Amino acid sequence: MVQSSGYTTVDGEFDPIEERSFYTIDDFKINGKTIILRVDINSSINPNNGEILDDTRIRRHSATVKELSQKKSKVVILAHQSRPGKLDCVSLNEHSKRMSNIIGKNIKFIPDIYGEAVQASIKSMSNGDIIMLENVRFDNEEIELNKFENDNFKAQANAKMITTLSPLADLFVNDAFAAAHRCQPSLVGFSEIIPAVAGRVMQRELDFLGKAISSGPNPRVALLGGSKAADSVSISEYFLKKGVDYVLTGGVVANIFLLAAGIDIGGPSSTFIENNIKNHSEVVNKAKELITNYKDKILYPTDVAINQNGKRIGIPVENLPSKYPIHDIGLDTLVNYINLIKSAGTIIANGPMGVFENQEFAIGTKEIFESISKSNGMTVVGGGETAMAFNQMGFSKSIEHISTGGGACIAFMADETMPALEAMRRSKIKFE
Ligand code: 3PG
Repeated sequence: MVQSSGYTTVDGEFDPIEERSFYTIDDFKINGKTIILRVDINSSINPNNGEILDDTRIRRHSATVKELSQKKSKVVILAHQSRPGKLDCVSLNEHSKRMSNIIGKNIKFIPDIYGEAVQASIKSMSNGDIIMLENVRFDNEEIELNKFENDNFKAQANAKMITTLSPLADLFVNDAFAAAHRCQPSLVGFSEIIPAVAGRVMQRELDFLGKAISSGPNPRVALLGGSKAADSVSISEYFLKKGVDYVLTGGVVANIFLLAAGIDIGGPSSTFIENNIKNHSEVVNKAKELITNYKDKILYPTDVAINQNGKRIGIPVENLPSKYPIHDIGLDTLVNYINLIKSAGTIIANGPMGVFENQEFAIGTKEIFESISKSNGMTVVGGGETAMAFNQMGFSKSIEHISTGGGACIAFMADETMPALEAMRRSKIKFE
């Protein structure tokens, strides 16, 4: 199995000379063509009334849908919402209405995925028409055939959804970056039978994330925080291998590096790591290795803020261990990080610096995020909780690229195999 995403990730905007390892919409004449478009509009939903609480992803994908329709292709949208057994695993009817409003054109919703009604509707489509099919996760094969096995996507390509819909379509456009770490039929099955190309959301994600990690303007600075410490240590390793100049750490990630540097962080913070980070000793050992190999490139706090019965108390790390938990970076660390951010040509950020939900401990995250938003460099922010924090703090408008992916963004940044990207790459080779 291919272990590296290894994708050419250069956007025309950045560098039109290099060739991508996947097709984009620009590589095909799509006028009059039937396109299966996989998007990721998995949204947060109020399970009591089905109301869509955040339509960010629907808005982002609307641009691709609109472009395909305006270029006179027949657009058949596939997407998922949540997972079976969860209260928000609902129909996509509301999603289709919301998207229709955004693009100002009717999207016909069909409450089925590949049955006769769907087949008849696709056959009767006119150029520019758009239909949205039902939540693909209502289909058993979509749920069950989810492994990248024997280095191929045969099982997924043989799923009923794929064998039924592929003969009706000319092209598969995969825009679902946020689900690209999954290996389900709707993501990897079509590319075996019809050419697969990246949609605009996918293209932008790969271009921006790839560029920020590998070849953005120097110096390149990464900010890694939050509690997904094992992922962040893997991400640090990949970033440093790719030549990122500085990795600034906060949150539980910083605590791992403090431990790796031989600093006793105290009972509560250590217990948190023991209880919440799987294989934490291995993670700390990996962090130690990184500190040894990339000595001045990985930064961890020189001072921290501990939560002393709800009160913020700043202490230098020399005064650790503390019987109180570490809940933010300290002010000296903050100033140091901000200076590095100010001089950065590229900044890629994932995760908060502390427990920012509590005002007392939001200072580190808020000041750092604000300085990123003011940067003149290229700014890229991970999806999920980080994106939400930038939004809540009012800094998201000044960020060049905010990822739509949560788990997918982390997988990409950690250089894990991403089946849907692999499927697109293989499709390009197959249909060249
Ligand atoms: C996400 O929200 O991260 C994506 O839609 C993937 O969803 P999943 O984790 O349920 O596959």
